[in-house]
Amino acid sequence: MNDRAALTPSPVSPADAAALLRGRRTVDLFRAGECPGRETLREAIDVARWAPNHHRTEPWRFALLGPESQAAIIDLNTELLTASKGGEIAAAKRQRWEAMPGWLAVSCVRDEDPITAQEDYAACACAVQNLALYLHSAGVGTKWASGAVTRLPAFLDIIGADRDREYCVGLIWYGYPKRAPRSQRKSLDMIIRERP
Ligand SMILES: Cc1cc2nc3c(=O)[nH]c(=O)nc-3n(C[C@H](O)[C@H](O)[C@H](O)COP(=O)(O)O)c2cc1C
Repeated sequence: MNDRAALTPSPVSPADAAALLRGRRTVDLFRAGECPGRETLREAIDVARWAPNHHRTEPWRFALLGPESQAAIIDLNTELLTASKGGEIAAAKRQRWEAMPGWLAVSCVRDEDPITAQEDYAACACAVQNLALYLHSAGVGTKWASGAVTRLPAFLDIIGADRDREYCVGLIWYGYPKRAPRSQRKSLDMIIRERP
């Protein structure tokens, strides 16, 4: 059997794949009081980890965050924003974050080799996209956040990451979208170079 024949045939048509890829949007507003269960998230993580990863480092770590961890992150962010932007902005952000239904943090294990480290970040980003697309197919929206709070060592402590060996790739909020967000892209001509 040659390599081509060994490939699993795609279970979805190109048109369905394109619709899934085009249809995923960053979701800002989620329906209140409804949150997908941990089992759905575990399934999403199970497929997320089939992302490409050079040298098969599998550098990703996923932290499913319960109410206590969520509250600790919100407190930490309030502290950070109060100091940098003032109490009013911090309080508004607290209110928004308290409305986020599901919380997941993705971190990456640091590699000493700079090239591997870069490739590992890329692999984690692919895993986040896998996760987002899988959840989207299940009617669950996501928002990838990478604000300053995610870079604090205290944040890593809250998500149970090893602060000396990992860094946060993103805080992923998830839930059922309240509205269909819009987005746009540059024209293909602006991003494709046809070379001889
Ligand atoms: C690495 C990364 C970090 C991001 N961080 C944030 C963030 O901190 N806050 C935010 O509102 N959106 C964040 N986003 C989401 C982008 O703003 C969003 O993908 C972009 O607006 C395009 O919208 P779309 O995802 O609906 O296509 C992030 C996306 C990526 C890939």
